[in-house]
Amino acid sequence: PRRPGPDMTDLLVVGSGIAGLWTAIRAAEAGLEVTVVTKSGIGEGSTRWAQGGIAAAILPGDAPERHAADTLAAGAGLGEAEAVRTLVEDGPARIRDLIRFGVAFDGDESGLARGLEAAHSRARILHAGGDATGAEIERALVDTVRRRGIRVLEHTTFVDLVVEAGRVVGITVLGAPGELRARAVALATGGAGMLYPHTTNPDVATGDGVAAAARAGAAVADLEFVQFHPTALAVPGTPLVSEAVRGEGAVLVDAAGRRFLADLDPRAELAPRDVVARAVWRRMAEQGGEPVRLDATALGAHFLARRFPTIDAACRAAGFDWAREPVPVVPAAHYAMGGVVTDLDGRTSLPGLWAVGETARTGVHGANRLASNSLLEGAVFGERAAASVAASVRSAPATALPVVGGTLRHAAPPPRVSRGSSDIRPTERVDRGELRQLMWSHVGLERDAHGLAEASARLNGWHADPTDRAGVEDRNLLDLARLTVAAALARTRSVGAHTRTDEHERQAA
Ligand code: SIN
Repeated sequence: PRRPGPDMTDLLVVGSGIAGLWTAIRAAEAGLEVTVVTKSGIGEGSTRWAQGGIAAAILPGDAPERHAADTLAAGAGLGEAEAVRTLVEDGPARIRDLIRFGVAFDGDESGLARGLEAAHSRARILHAGGDATGAEIERALVDTVRRRGIRVLEHTTFVDLVVEAGRVVGITVLGAPGELRARAVALATGGAGMLYPHTTNPDVATGDGVAAAARAGAAVADLEFVQFHPTALAVPGTPLVSEAVRGEGAVLVDAAGRRFLADLDPRAELAPRDVVARAVWRRMAEQGGEPVRLDATALGAHFLARRFPTIDAACRAAGFDWAREPVPVVPAAHYAMGGVVTDLDGRTSLPGLWAVGETARTGVHGANRLASNSLLEGAVFGERAAASVAASVRSAPATALPVVGGTLRHAAPPPRVSRGSSDIRPTERVDRGELRQLMWSHVGLERDAHGLAEASARLNGWHADPTDRAGVEDRNLLDLARLTVAAALARTRSVGAHTRTDEHERQAA
């Protein structure tokens, strides 16, 4: 039964990865009453799966300017300088906060250990537990949330934003109390790897925040930029094999045992992720779909087990001894560069609504995210969003919160979640497995107008009923798939993670 009065809080945070928990902790420390809503257990998001680490120019011999240059170069010219500068300049302070929250980074009395990953000009990746960085960060943040007594509603499915008079005033959830009211809402629901059958993401990654924000009329952008990680172990349900393994010297070989990346890019295995993923995809096509192999044998059994205990265990569980033989790897959907458009304080185009982490499109990633910038983005912009929400809540009467500060950049009109040429509801219920396969075939590492049109037609023939958690997720995946296809159709040139194989035909026509 619905409770008689609306449930009211200062800030509702939807999602419980690094971005959501950071925002919640810092807003609570600023004196706000905060409620975190999460559809599974608190630690179930993508954060705890992050292996490689968190990038920051904190160690001697590095500088934020270098980190910024690498981030912009990896972003293929579409990253935004001001957002990137914010990320790299605020980064070191957020690392110190993580240590304050109890994160035990690897290192010894001589200093923090640092790894190298693709497209970084310096070894600047801090890690914990070897390759269990995300798990350690999530643990420390969950502990901090518990210590601060922040209210967390687990197993609570967010359905939609509640918008009144143009302002977000709460969310609807499945089951009682049905609606939660708040003076501000921050979406931190992560990405949407579940759009694809091959993904490094956990199954909660169904794009709930981006889809709901788009339905509510918030500006979203860059959805065509989906990052595919080049080296997921070619065994369903197993985690990725971190880029840090290549950073330590592992190489990729084809079915004939030949290294193939050096012919394509002088940086070879350490070229930006979009370059490596595309090369792996194409080499796989050339060899009849057979996975390529990651050869880490030169690193030695002792080093692999100590530096990469998670991957070592996963390889062994899948029946591979990666210290003795190259392991089969394939690209898998990994990260959404696009999302809900925000300014540098996480504010969206909708008053009352903030977005942080993978859900947000801050402009830092451009067309391709630099490795290990994602945890950093969650911390840096979670911090800024918390401060921004606190300023809004303090400056406004309980009933009407204005958006404080400057105007939102890039506030394009929101793309419509199109349901086809007519708005008549399709009769066929979406088949999630088919949708994911469709996205892989036509909206994956390579796209063309024909395939995208085919995907669009199929997607427009489906509907989903948000009456239970699976239905809510299906509707979000369907809405996001439609928006992604529309964005991929609109961008006719290849850039970064978005490859249009028909661009030359179009230019010649
Ligand atoms: C990895 O460890 O390869 C993933 C790091 C990232 O996605 O930033």
